[in-house]
Amino acid sequence: MRPKVYITRRIPSAVVAKIQEVCEVEMWQEEDIPVPREVLEDKVKDIDGLYCLLTESIDESLLQRANKLKVISNMAVGFNNIDVEAATQRGIIVTNTPGVLTETTADLTFALLMATARRLVEASDYLREGSWKTWSPMLLTGQDVYGATLGIIGLGRIGESLAKRAKGFDMRVLYHNRSRKEQAEQVLGLEYKELDALLKQSDFVCVLTPYSPETRNLIGERELSLMKSTAILINTARGGIVDEAALYQALSNGAIWAAGLDVFEEEPVKPDHPLLTLPNVVTLPHIGSASIQTRTKMAELAALNLLQALRGEGPAHRVN
Ligand code: DGY
Repeated sequence: MRPKVYITRRIPSAVVAKIQEVCEVEMWQEEDIPVPREVLEDKVKDIDGLYCLLTESIDESLLQRANKLKVISNMAVGFNNIDVEAATQRGIIVTNTPGVLTETTADLTFALLMATARRLVEASDYLREGSWKTWSPMLLTGQDVYGATLGIIGLGRIGESLAKRAKGFDMRVLYHNRSRKEQAEQVLGLEYKELDALLKQSDFVCVLTPYSPETRNLIGERELSLMKSTAILINTARGGIVDEAALYQALSNGAIWAAGLDVFEEEPVKPDHPLLTLPNVVTLPHIGSASIQTRTKMAELAALNLLQALRGEGPAHRVN
C-alpha cells in the first residue's frame, strides 16, 4: 500500500509530483489561508506523513489522533510549531530544512538592518505622500552602518553568514551564544560577549536565536534599557523572543532608536498592533527566506526528508 501524505499548503507542483511517485497525496488548496484546525484534525487520523509549515500547530492533542503517523516534515528551519517531545514519545520522526535558507535569511536580515538604519520606508512614504519640498541638511537622517558595532544573539548558520556581510562593512562584530564558537571568532574576527555586555556595546542588535521556552522574552524591559539610545534592534528569528510591549515602550520613550521586525509573537500581526503605529519601526511579514530559489529548495528538501523517513532511510535533517 502506498503511504498517505497530507500537505498543508500549496507547494510547487514539481515537488508534489515527486512525492506522488511513491505516495498518495492530498493537499490543502488555499494559498493564503492556513488549513483549518478541524480539517487537519480529521486528515491526520489516516496519514503516514505530514508535510507542514510553521503556521500549523502540531501539538499533543493533534498527535493523539495521529495513529499511523510516521513523519512530520516541517518546511522551515525553525520547528517551535511542533511539540517535538510529544512526537518523539509516539515514535514520530520530525524533520526541518536547515542550510538551504541560510544566505537568503542573512541577506534579508542585513537588508532590514540597513533599511531601518537609513529610514528607507519612512523616506519612501515621505516622497510618495508629497511631503518632499527641498533637500535639507538633516532631513531623514539615520544611523551609519559602515564601521558600527553589530551584536548577534544566536550564532548559528545564519548568524555566521550575517557576520560575513557585516565584515564587508568594516563592522566590529560581537556575538552571544549558548556555546563559544572559537573557530568563527578566529576566521571571522568575532568577539564573544555576555548578553548584557553585547547589549551595552552594540549599535545594532540582531536576534537570530531559535525560539524555545528559554528564549521566550529574552529581550525584555531590562535588556532594552541596557541598549544605547541610538541602537537599533533587528529580529528575524521568532516574535516571542522579544517582549513586544516592552519594545513598544522602549521605542516610544527613546530608550532605543528604532527596530526592524520580520517576525511577531502572533502572526499575521494585527494591523492595529501598537508597534505598527511607530515611525521608527520597519516591519515585514516574515519573509526572511522568501526568495523564489530558496523557497523552492526548502520545498524540495522537506519532500526529501519526508520520503526518506517513509522509506525508513533515516532522514538527514531529523530533529528528534
Ligand atoms: C524558518 O524556516 O524557520 C523561517 O522562519 C521561515 O523560513
